[in-house]
Amino acid sequence: MSPTAATAKAAQAAEPLFEPYQLGPLHLSNRMVMAPMTRSRALAGNVPNPLAETYYRQRASAGLIVTEGSQVSPQGQGYIRTPGIHSPEQVAAWRKITAAVAREGGKIFLQLWHVGRVSHPDFHGGALPVAPSAIAAEGEVFTEKGPQKMVTPRALDASELPGIVAQFRKAAENAKAAGFDGVEIHGANGYLLDQFTRDGSNHRTDAYGGSLENRVRFPLEVTQAVIDVWGKDRVGYRISPNGAFNSMSDSNPRETFSYLAERLSDLGIVYLHSFDPPSGPNHLSPVLRKVFKGTFIVNGGYDLASGNAAIQSGEADLVAYGVAFLANPDLPHRFERRAPLNAPDQATFYAGEQKGYTDYPALIG
Ligand SMILES: Cc1cc2nc3c(=O)[nH]c(=O)nc-3n(C[C@H](O)[C@H](O)[C@H](O)COP(=O)(O)O)c2cc1C
Repeated sequence: MSPTAATAKAAQAAEPLFEPYQLGPLHLSNRMVMAPMTRSRALAGNVPNPLAETYYRQRASAGLIVTEGSQVSPQGQGYIRTPGIHSPEQVAAWRKITAAVAREGGKIFLQLWHVGRVSHPDFHGGALPVAPSAIAAEGEVFTEKGPQKMVTPRALDASELPGIVAQFRKAAENAKAAGFDGVEIHGANGYLLDQFTRDGSNHRTDAYGGSLENRVRFPLEVTQAVIDVWGKDRVGYRISPNGAFNSMSDSNPRETFSYLAERLSDLGIVYLHSFDPPSGPNHLSPVLRKVFKGTFIVNGGYDLASGNAAIQSGEADLVAYGVAFLANPDLPHRFERRAPLNAPDQATFYAGEQKGYTDYPALIG
């Protein structure tokens, strides 16, 4: 090996983020994932905005894009202007987005989302949002009428659960028809599947509550239905084991999420995606990584150095970047060149049409 080649190889080894990665059947050009981010720009009927085609295409140099959460059904909605994956118009709009990303050589998974209790009757013709138990989350959701206090949800009857599994199954089929490379099940951030998993929000006394085995039963039923559509090597699952967002809590996150990770591993899904900032006091990635046999994605406040370090230490295979990708369409290129990053504009995270969406500049040259 020539000295130059040796130096280049050594530099690459030091920067595993830029190495390609085989994710099941998919060849990823690098190990940087664009984290799922709600941008609240969908049009009437929760149809993705045509601007999303530009937004995701601009970010196609990510090894893998995970889209914003997309509701599996009208019942799964809790935020205005969020896209769905349950109507023909939504599928048609997503198809254009996946085609645009594919033309750039990118890979894109859809995040399948059901908010559960994080919603409001305004979204449901006056009916209560649903949840494992009738326990309200604190805070407000934004509806067409402005900010509204979250209400106490209606506890789902066990007989209703197969219907929600069917919503996920249908949404997974729609995602396939829309040309995605795979799907990520949203099991994080206090939404429906997370509400079942953690004991702060699940007080059920039937087969879907109480023991750990019972609490993960519904999330695993959903996962199995999605696997039936996609095959296990195109299905990922997202968790936030220490997240308190949306009034979430669990008496033993380490035990709960180790068990869930083990069971998801048994099902053979291709990746587990954990939002769990490394700075947190009970950072669980090293534990979960050992339990889950597939690809492990970490997320939460990573930068270039800590992303490379997470892969080098064996804690992660891939690293997801949220805000950094939002503000830098060419993030891998910038990281490689040590170029300065654009500053994110929080005021346009959830509003602004093209402003703060498709107008962040890429590096010239
Ligand atoms: C504007 C915005 C929207 C988000 N929407 C979602 C979402 O739809 N689904 C999800 O799982 N996480 C969502 N998140 C969380 C991000 O995926 C990610 O976990 C978070 O930004 C931390 O990663 P970072 O430090 O690299 O930004 C969102 C974050 C932001 C900033």
